[in-house]
Amino acid sequence: MSFPGKFIWIDGQMVPWDEAKIHILSHALHYGSCAFEGIRMYTNPQGSFVLRLHEHIDRLFKSAKIYRMDIPYTLDQLCVAVKETIIANKLKTGYIRPFVFRGYHSLGLNPFDCPMVTAVAVWEWGAYLGKTALEKGASVRIASWNRPAPNTMPAMAKVAANYMNSQLIKMEAIQDGFDEGIALDAFGYLSEGSGENVFIVKNGMIFTPPSSSSILPGITRHCVFQLAREMGYKVKQQVLPRESLYVADEAFMTGAAAEITPIAQVDKIKVGDGLRGPITQAIQEAFFGILSGERKDTHGWMDPVV
Ligand SMILES: Cc1ncc(COP(=O)(O)O)c(C=O)c1O
Repeated sequence: MSFPGKFIWIDGQMVPWDEAKIHILSHALHYGSCAFEGIRMYTNPQGSFVLRLHEHIDRLFKSAKIYRMDIPYTLDQLCVAVKETIIANKLKTGYIRPFVFRGYHSLGLNPFDCPMVTAVAVWEWGAYLGKTALEKGASVRIASWNRPAPNTMPAMAKVAANYMNSQLIKMEAIQDGFDEGIALDAFGYLSEGSGENVFIVKNGMIFTPPSSSSILPGITRHCVFQLAREMGYKVKQQVLPRESLYVADEAFMTGAAAEITPIAQVDKIKVGDGLRGPITQAIQEAFFGILSGERKDTHGWMDPVV
């Protein structure tokens, strides 16, 4: 991760990185009242592109809506702000973090008087789970923590508060020597990683937990649906028991940060041969081929920066 960048866009101003400060009593800092996005951008021989910018900003608006936050910009204005921030930072390949949060006014739980702050930061960021994991697969454990039960914290909203649960999952995995943790939902079914959706491949079919399994409906997950179906695979959203990971032929995780990362082993049990499986590899090649410009972007996923 390459910190710091040069500028952060805050409510229409391009603020020098070190001056991008907020009050220590901002509501979001105390109660997690922040909705955010994580997006990747890539530069290939055809230019610089943001991957599925519109869909990410749309999800930001939906996360904010769930928490009754009014974003004082339009979707198009925030897409422009993202591109301006990329240009101001001269970023070629990396990560984009648009976010909206409740700022400084009062610290009661009623947040309505706190002003909304909207910001966009960008920075260089390589493979989230390491380059080796992209080829050889990650080693994961099933977390002892579950994802939040329905009607507690809405999993569909990408909000800061949810990531306390993700941090528990991640810290436990790292301290136990794994790359990542995958959580079950409140009913004991497979949910998702601390920052990734999960897929398994069994007998040539692809399965992933449905949105009722306390997952964030990932945009990379949706890319996989489209690419895999175009390649002739059946993709099914289905409630999955934990052990389906152990007996899968292949498994992989998806996310803007993790991109498409194979899972080599779960709880020290090899998935398939413990190597990247052929279907996972084919989906990776289709996905990374579009990002690198080697394959045609027939879906219009790559949004040019200029
Ligand atoms: C908890 C969680 N699930 C799934 C995902 C994958 O979503 P996406 O592919 O849109 O990045 C993420 C990453 O944003 C996440 O944090």
